[in-house]
This record gives sequence, C-alpha cells and structure tokens, in this order.
Amino acid sequence: MHRFLLSTLCLAALARSTPLPQVKKSCQRYTLPLNITSLNLKWALEPLETNEGAAAYNTQTGRRDAQSVFHPVTLPTTPETAIYTISGTFCQPTSGGNGTVLLATHGGGYDRSYWHPSIQPESYSFVDYAVAQGYPIFYYDRLGLGQSEMVSGYVAQSSIHASIIKELIKLLRSDKFGSPASKVALIGHSMGSAYSNSVLNSDPGLVDAAILTGIAYNITSKGIADQAKQSRLAKLQNPL
Ligand SMILES: *[C@@H]1O[C@H](CO)[C@@H](O)[C@H](O)[C@H]1NC(C)=O
Ligand SMILES: *[C@@H]1O[C@H](CO)[C@@H](O)[C@H](O)[C@H]1NC(C)=O
Ligand SMILES: *[C@@H]1O[C@H](CO)[C@@H](O)[C@H](O)[C@H]1NC(C)=O
Repeated sequence: MHRFLLSTLCLAALARSTPLPQVKKSCQRYTLPLNITSLNLKWALEPLETNEGAAAYNTQTGRRDAQSVFHPVTLPTTPETAIYTISGTFCQPTSGGNGTVLLATHGGGYDRSYWHPSIQPESYSFVDYAVAQGYPIFYYDRLGLGQSEMVSGYVAQSSIHASIIKELIKLLRSDKFGSPASKVALIGHSMGSAYSNSVLNSDPGLVDAAILTGIAYNITSKGIADQAKQSRLAKLQNPL
C-alpha cells in the first residue's frame, strides 16, 4: 500500500511537470555572506511608526520643492562595514559558458524570480533565454527580499545595494561558481538598473557591459521622481 501510494505520487508529480523547451542548464543556489563597506545615509526624522506617518512622509517627498525644504536624511560621513547574507542562483549551460557572465538585479516589488518566473518559464524566463544563448547568469534576491537577509528599510539603502553588486562581481571573477568570469555584464530592471548604474558611475572599470532596462535618466528633481508613484487627478489624466 505504502509503495503503491509512493509510486502514484511520483506519477502525479511527473504528470504535472510542464515540458520545458530543451534549455540544457545546470543551476545551483548559493547563500553568500558578503562583507559590505558603504557610505550610508542617516535617518534625520523620528522613526515612522504609523501608516499615517508613512503617508505624510510620501506627501513631503512628493513636494515640488522637496529638495530644498524636506531633509529626511543626513549625508554619510564615515563608511560602515557589515556582513549581509545574499541568496542567489547561478545557472549556466551544461556545456559551460565561454567566460562572459551576466549579473542580474531585479527591481522594486520583485525577487529573483523576476528573471525566472514559475509561470510559463518557456515564455518568460530570461534565465533560460540567456543560458540558451550560451551565457551563464547569476540572479539573486536583493537585500531584504526573498531568501536574502531581512533588514529594516532604514538599512536597505542604495549604497548597500550597489556595494552588494560590487562584491558579487568580485565573486563572479573568482572561482566561487566554477571557472572565473573573464567578462561580466550587469543586467538590471528598474531599481536594479539604478543600483547597477550606481556601480557603473562609481567604478566604471568593474564590468565589461551593462544592459539597463526600465530606467529613466533625466529626472531633474526628487519631487518629480516621487510624483511618478503618487496619486493623479483623473480629470488631468483623461479630460472628458
Ligand atoms: C570586512 O571588511 C572590513 C574592511 O575591509 C575588514 O576590516 C573586516 O575585518 C572584514 N570583516 C570580516 C568579518 O571579514
Ligand atoms: C560568448 O558567447 C556569446 C554568445 O554566443 C558571444 O556573443 C560572445 O562574444 C562570446 N564571448 C567570448 C569571450 O567568446
Ligand atoms: C532633461 O529634462 C529637462 C526638464 O524636463 C529638459 O529641459 C532637458 O532638455 C532634458 N535633457 C535631456 C538630455 O533630455
């Protein structure tokens, strides 16, 4: 009976697995403690304790004159060092790569599955696409998301996200995942593009290429950037 049940369950599992296109890849998950040194902003207001407080904060950052009148943080003075644990997946063609490795950073509101969704991966998996083109790829949960270390929103700053990318580049160029990458290309979506761009800005020599998607460059004030996510008057959006 027990054996029957087991083989029935195995059959059921086989029957449910969707046939994938033949992307021959080998993948391994990693849990990586990274020693991060970064210049971090200091929160200058009382900690936010209520949803009303969060809404009021959002309103202030959305002001047209926010940059001159609203100062929620003070600039960093000395670098800070801490260990943050990042969870990521390295996938490569089973035949191995040719030395060029992609480092993919997802955007806000996602985790690493952005690059390899469980829904219709044959249509939507960038990981499978990249591997099918011969590129190994490392994709990971950004700090505070998915299976990476959970940290407070006061901690998960741009400076730390960018420094994490720099540490991951170093690991890709080491023998951590097999043969060292001879070339590294950053690939980002949205906030992941912004953090990748920050690395390009501070250390342009660290990588050989970058593909930044879902990012706009010419944002002239933080107030304008924040308006992008705020409420809109219907009559101004779609006048009748
Ligand atoms: C982390 O890096 C800093 C600066 O390079 C170093 O002083 C510190 O010893 C390192 N910490 C660990 C645990 O490796
Ligand atoms: C690696 O393979 C890609 C895709 O085929 C190719 O575009 C690239 O030039 C190759 N890089 C090297 C270093 O051979
Ligand atoms: C950037 O935006 C400003 C204001 O919206 C505009 O005047 C300027 O021409 C833009 N610059 C570029 C390079 O697009």
